[in-house]
Order: sequence, then structure tokens, then C-alpha cells
Amino acid sequence: MIDWDALEAAALDARDRAYAPYSRYRVGAAILSEDGRVYAGANIENASYGLCLCAERVAVAAAVMDGRTRFAALVVATEGPRVAAPCGACRQVLVELPPRFPVRCITATSDERIETDVASLQPHAFDGGFLASDD
Ligand code: THU
Repeated sequence: MIDWDALEAAALDARDRAYAPYSRYRVGAAILSEDGRVYAGANIENASYGLCLCAERVAVAAAVMDGRTRFAALVVATEGPRVAAPCGACRQVLVELPPRFPVRCITATSDERIETDVASLQPHAFDGGFLASDD
């Protein structure tokens, strides 16, 4: 049973801690491991723009460093009237982490939301299965 309200609260709280002085677009993410732990992340920007870290990947890094690699759900919280789904790079990172769990996208400033899952976000995904070798 996924406590979506708690996961939304964690993503919104993470968003408050974003470091986004350049875009001023704050993103928070909260990922739930299969064993019930919540790991949060926010975007962390850099004056060298290409080094900006997305909230989703910061949350994944925290989870993996705490020994979690299987997940049950993800909430991504942005802001503004239009709800946003994870960028392409984050989708590819999420594909790496089994199973293809549900994803909810919300904004802090409107009721608009997206309910989806990792498989839908990244169809025809390239994953480790293509790299497996019999020899
Ligand atoms: N951003 C995320 O944190 N996650 C996404 O999936 C899309 C974009 C951040 C990166 C950057 O700090 C800001 O949003 C504007 O692109």
C-alpha cells in the first residue's frame, strides 16, 4: 500500500530545498523503496549550466547509496500552472531501477497532475537486457 500523501509531502518539502539560482525552477522528488523507505532529492544547479543535477537523480543517488535499488513509487513536484514529467535523462535512469514503478507528477501551485509509470515514460527503453551475453 503506497502512502501517496506522504510521498507528495516529501517531494514538496524537498522542492523547498532546491538550489536553483539560475533557472529559479525548483523541483523536488521523493522515491519510495520497496521496503518502505522514502528518499528525497531536489535540483542542484551550477554556474556551469551543464552540470545541473535533476531532483529525480539526486533522490535516486541517495537511495542507492543507502542500499536501495528496487522501488515502489516516485513523486516529482514542480511549480507553475503546468505539471511537468521527468526529463529524458531522468527517464533513462529510472528505467534502470526495477520494477517499472508508478510515477506521480504534481505542482505546488495547481491541482493538475500526471499519473503514469516508468514503462509509459520511456517506451522501447534501452536497458541492461540488451547487454546480457550468453558467453
Ligand atoms: N529539472 C529537474 O530537476 N528534473 C527534471 O526532470 C527536469 C528539469 C531541473 C533541472 C534544472 O535545475 C531546472 O529543472 C530547469 O531545467
